[in-house]
Amino acid sequence: MKIITIVGARPQFIKAAAVSNIIREENKEILIHTGQHYDNNMSDIFFNELGIPYPDYNLQVGSGNHGEQTGKMLIELEKIYLEEKPDLVLVYGDTNSTLAGALCASKLLIPVAHVEAGLRSFNMSMPEEQNRILTDHISKYLFAPTDTAVANLKNEGVVNNVHNVGDVMYDATIHFKNKALEKSQINEKLKLTPGEFILTTIHRAENTNDINRLEGIIKALNESEEQIILPLHPRTKKYIDEYKLMIRDNIKIIEPVGYLDMLYLEMMSKKIVTDSGGVQKEAYFMGKPCITMRDETEWIETVNVGWNCIVGTDTTKILKAIMNFNPLGEQKNIFGDGNASNKIVRTIV
Ligand code: UD1
Ligand code: UDP
Repeated sequence: MKIITIVGARPQFIKAAAVSNIIREENKEILIHTGQHYDNNMSDIFFNELGIPYPDYNLQVGSGNHGEQTGKMLIELEKIYLEEKPDLVLVYGDTNSTLAGALCASKLLIPVAHVEAGLRSFNMSMPEEQNRILTDHISKYLFAPTDTAVANLKNEGVVNNVHNVGDVMYDATIHFKNKALEKSQINEKLKLTPGEFILTTIHRAENTNDINRLEGIIKALNESEEQIILPLHPRTKKYIDEYKLMIRDNIKIIEPVGYLDMLYLEMMSKKIVTDSGGVQKEAYFMGKPCITMRDETEWIETVNVGWNCIVGTDTTKILKAIMNFNPLGEQKNIFGDGNASNKIVRTIV
């Protein structure tokens, strides 16, 4: 079987690290990198570190407004799909690369498989919500990571070929956790005491592109008594500079790190404060309390079992949670058995 896989943004490289090598055991995979993320520490580092096959094509679309970025991808993808004639196109998650990959295939009547189908925030102002709903409705195979995702699809009338296989990021964490402990040198670099720092990430457009929300977050981190480690997404760096937000000494800003360093930091942290989808899940995998700086989450199970709390961007709420939030319940098996990637490939083939 000939499968085209589309990746373009950081979390998609990590997901492909779990799935691509399994696809290649018995199939032909063509890997297309749209170039949505392009800095070394947002892209190449993941390929080098995680043994992801080198992309067969890099569209190099770079950054831009949503229409421009998605449109450029569509133009280039169509040429490749027509030339390569794949049996199926596989897309991950909810980025502009996901939507472009799926839409282009759908128009050419090539079946689409969507990994991480059925996630919903019920907030249509998020570009990710638009991308995932549209992608789900044009996909032939829907690989849902959780029961909630399956129920969300059912509510929208999508019931055929829906498979709850678990979460491919759980597969990736299991696969790379020991390697992170062995190989990561981030601790030597940052001289951290395990269990005595808060790991933070911020990149969600609704938080960075709104001065009040970003200010609310930075103020809380500044006022916290804790040491904060903040690997900073380039989008957020741009807005912190533009809004001239002051950063206190308790916050250590570092460049975005590779996946192994990130897993290591997660494992050594006391709590995780984030607006990332993937990092919320990894906090759960690592057994760390998660404080989510959003108004809602797609990963509602982590909240329901008491390991994640939603605080938005209100300074007082974030500060209170940093001080007081501790998980209330035992962890449950929410994200499958660590074999999502195998199940996806078996189902498709
Ligand atoms: C994108 C996804 C988001 C995902 C995130 C993962 C969309 C709409 N958003 O958000 O769902 O959670 O990736 O990290 O697809 N930039 C660089 N270098 C890079 C990449 C980006 O400097 O290598 C800067 C540029 O200023 C760019 C900005 O970051 O304009 C935003 O990048 P973009 O890919 O549009 O969105 P993300 O915030 O990364
Ligand atoms: N990540 C990383 N380095 C960083 C920040 C995040 O390797 O500096 C990893 C993180 O461990 C997770 C994924 O990137 O696996 C999450 O991606 P991101 O937060 O960019 O996007 P989202 O999951 O919100 O779409």
